[in-house]
Amino acid sequence: MTTLEDKLRQFDEKSKLAELGGGQDRIDKQHAKGRLTARERIQLLLDPGSFVEKDKFLTHRCHDFGMETQKVLGDGVVTGYGKIDGRIVFVFAQDFTVFGGTLSRANADKIIKIMDLAIHMGAPVIGLNDSGGARIQEGVESLAGYADIFYRNTKCSGVIPQISAILGPCAGGAVYSPALTDFICMVKDTSYMFVTGPDVIKTVTHEEVTMNDLGGAMTHNSKSGVAHLVAENDEQAMIMLRELMSFLPSNNMEEPPIRPCTDDIRRSDEKLTTLVPDDPNKPYDMKELITTVVDHNNFFEIQPHFAMNMVIGFGRFDGRSVGIVANQPAHLAGVLDIQSSMKAARFIRFCDCFNIPIVTFVDVPGFLPGTTQEWGGIIKHGAKLLYAYCEATVPRITIITRKAYGGAYDVMSSKHIGGDVNFAYPTAEIAVMGPEGAVNILYKKDHLTPEARQQAVDEYKNTFASPYKAAELGYVDEIIHPKETRFRLIQALEMTQTKTKSGPPRKHGNIPL
Ligand code: HXC
Repeated sequence: MTTLEDKLRQFDEKSKLAELGGGQDRIDKQHAKGRLTARERIQLLLDPGSFVEKDKFLTHRCHDFGMETQKVLGDGVVTGYGKIDGRIVFVFAQDFTVFGGTLSRANADKIIKIMDLAIHMGAPVIGLNDSGGARIQEGVESLAGYADIFYRNTKCSGVIPQISAILGPCAGGAVYSPALTDFICMVKDTSYMFVTGPDVIKTVTHEEVTMNDLGGAMTHNSKSGVAHLVAENDEQAMIMLRELMSFLPSNNMEEPPIRPCTDDIRRSDEKLTTLVPDDPNKPYDMKELITTVVDHNNFFEIQPHFAMNMVIGFGRFDGRSVGIVANQPAHLAGVLDIQSSMKAARFIRFCDCFNIPIVTFVDVPGFLPGTTQEWGGIIKHGAKLLYAYCEATVPRITIITRKAYGGAYDVMSSKHIGGDVNFAYPTAEIAVMGPEGAVNILYKKDHLTPEARQQAVDEYKNTFASPYKAAELGYVDEIIHPKETRFRLIQALEMTQTKTKSGPPRKHGNIPL
């Protein structure tokens, strides 16, 4: 007869077996590749001792290809919940040591259970991906599992934050679950995402490309824009996810968490007085302005390597999270193009979903001209940015630091499309275009002498190359001294905290995708 002691021993043994995943050899292999195991990653991600595991003893139900004799407790994914900074988050971590972390029907059911709990409890889901994709032995059952996950990703979108880390291979249709989530963090040299791998590409298009060039961390962080963050290793990735979470509410009905602020809200900075150069053609680093004004100079940049003419990220003012969107004059003069429009549009929509006010810094010479842009659909992609701003109902504060030319003036959270408080620096220039271009068009048929031309340029500058015309019309609420930016932003954010705004009922809008 089995004694109580036997039962407890059996429980203990099974538990240890489940925790060993695919066994010590495979764990050693995983470490040798510079990767951590699923459980090690979870330990680093969550507050110490907070992880509660679910379905630890679940196994697959496959009877094909001899799989009935190969069962591993947990079936290649570790799922459960725990806390980050004391707040509940749901987690799944694919375990590459078990069938290459591949997705079986049972394994998908574990992930789905976590996602369903997360949406019902109003808590974020973090997925730690490291998988060979669909488990080949399970055929369509595996594909069904993926589809069930995609469906839930979409239902959760805009309700709870969904964050993905790619910490190993992520191939085929498997990439679409992370792609449906809000943020993707990849690890240099050890993570890959692609729809079809190098071998298939070679067969079909005769291109030769390495895994890293095709879908490595820097490819997706700098070229494709699929990923948002890049880490040196798994440990750093987990730290980055924790920091990202600190800016976000748990769900769309909550406000973002407030972090006690010890940074003087009235802190002014003389260096801002001269940061924007007198010469409108001289670049400066918008990130220097941002880091100077946010709490403790802490700016958490998103997609720092992609479309660098646009800067996006999170910061805090007086302890409250804000999303920051800014043209970057130090890169391509801060021009709007296809990539920068898409980058900012998605970020604005994220902030709007999750009650995070948006602060926009404007220094933009307009949209990038050229056939590449026009044929690439800048009209449609620029419209995404316009649409995202127009529909965003969170508090919106805008500061024009220098150029706000043409359509780009309208697009960059102008008063007309819902800016709640619109500031300008005395260095702002708000006009249809720059003085030289304007004079070329206005006096196209007149053959102006150099002196007359200079006079026309000066006249245009005096009329439009300042914020005063816009201020006269009420399109700019206030002209502020640059050194007071931090305090003026904090005042504006405080005033707009109670903002309520909603449009007429509709199923959803039709953003120009
Ligand atoms: C079953 C798989 C598997 C898979 C890997 N394994 N991929 N088992 N189905 N898809 C198993 C291996 O047999 C091996 O088992 C273990 O996982 C580790 O794999 P290795 O090949 O030894 O590891 P490594 O050399 O690091 O290579 C990893 C890999 C490679 C790059 C992921 O395994 C690979 O290319 N796998 C196939 C990837 C793929 O084409 N997946 C389907 C994508 S399509 P043992 O027992 O030896 O340890 C897809 C469709 C989704 O996912 C559709 C959604 C709509």
